[in-house]
Amino acid sequence: MIRARITGTGSYVPEKVLTNLDIEKFLDTNDEWIRARTGISERHIAADGEQTSDLATRAAERAMEMAGVSADEIDLIVVGTITGDYPWPATACVVQANLGAKNAGAFDVSAACSGFLYALSCAVDRVEAGRAQKVLVIGAEILSRIVNWEDRNTCILFGDAAGAVIVEAGEGDRGILSTHLHADGTQLELLYQPGFGTKNLPSVEALKDKSYFLEMQGNEVFKVAVRSMASVAKIALEANGMTAEDVDLFIPHQANIRILNATAKKIGLKDEQVYINVDRFGNTSGATIPLALDEANRAGRIKEGDILLLDAFGGGFTWAATLLRW
Ligand code: ACO
Repeated sequence: MIRARITGTGSYVPEKVLTNLDIEKFLDTNDEWIRARTGISERHIAADGEQTSDLATRAAERAMEMAGVSADEIDLIVVGTITGDYPWPATACVVQANLGAKNAGAFDVSAACSGFLYALSCAVDRVEAGRAQKVLVIGAEILSRIVNWEDRNTCILFGDAAGAVIVEAGEGDRGILSTHLHADGTQLELLYQPGFGTKNLPSVEALKDKSYFLEMQGNEVFKVAVRSMASVAKIALEANGMTAEDVDLFIPHQANIRILNATAKKIGLKDEQVYINVDRFGNTSGATIPLALDEANRAGRIKEGDILLLDAFGGGFTWAATLLRW
């Protein structure tokens, strides 16, 4: 049986750091409130002229270097993003051009904060079906350009980043054990970007009242996120005959510390099993999981044979989990 395996990880965050204290200077909020409610102290913000594809390309290069994979060996590039360079074509195509990956197909996946795990599942399916050997999977976002910096309910949460992995065909029991995808579009307005798609075209009014930016009902999202992430994590464990005790490292979507703690508790995980970096990067949507995975990997936090549980929830709603043996 072919087993899809992650052979390299990489990430990139823009240089500019925006701290809570910086935000205090232009918004009616404060460091203490932000840290207590979200666990976030600072986030990185893309420079003018820096695009999502630039972040994605840098993260990809690092993952390729670790895996020892060259651009022309890549069969497929899948980017999970909701903040692509353009509405279309796909940011994956821009990355394909940047890398010179001339033998690769390329497409984006739109599943908000679950985007990376959705993209990863596409790669896994393609590899396990024998239709690809080496796939580049990326989660990349510039959320700072779709949030309203006058809305204290949302802008304090988000940051910009990219993370990438190389998925290769292998054999044996190391690799992706299972992927699980879920969605519920009946409540999409609890977390979405009203403009600009075909429903809400650019207009003078929308620009004036800033109604095209990301909107969120935080309290409602909080409850559904915890419930859904805990549920899909349990589904993934049960599918593999495992329990929370078998997990060496839980890498959840880094939404905010209260969601992470509540989810981990519901699953039955201890603090030392949970990877957290939301304090330094904020919520970077589709980029949080590959960014955290790369950080943990390079810090030597993951050993061969470790069981990793990746778990995400995002706009749509979408939620997903992946269980893997490193
Ligand atoms: N600074 C100071 N005060 C603020 C701020 C701020 N940045 N934002 C809101 N407040 C005020 C509100 O106006 C409100 O004041 P009021 O009582 O006078 O009306 C008070 O703080 C409490 O507001 P709530 O919205 O009830 O605050 P809550 O405790 O729910 O925290 C938060 C808000 C952090 C957004 C929370 O709802 C949450 O974590 N939601 C999850 C949403 C999330 O993380 N989304 C990310 C995208 S989805 C995902 O990635 C899974």
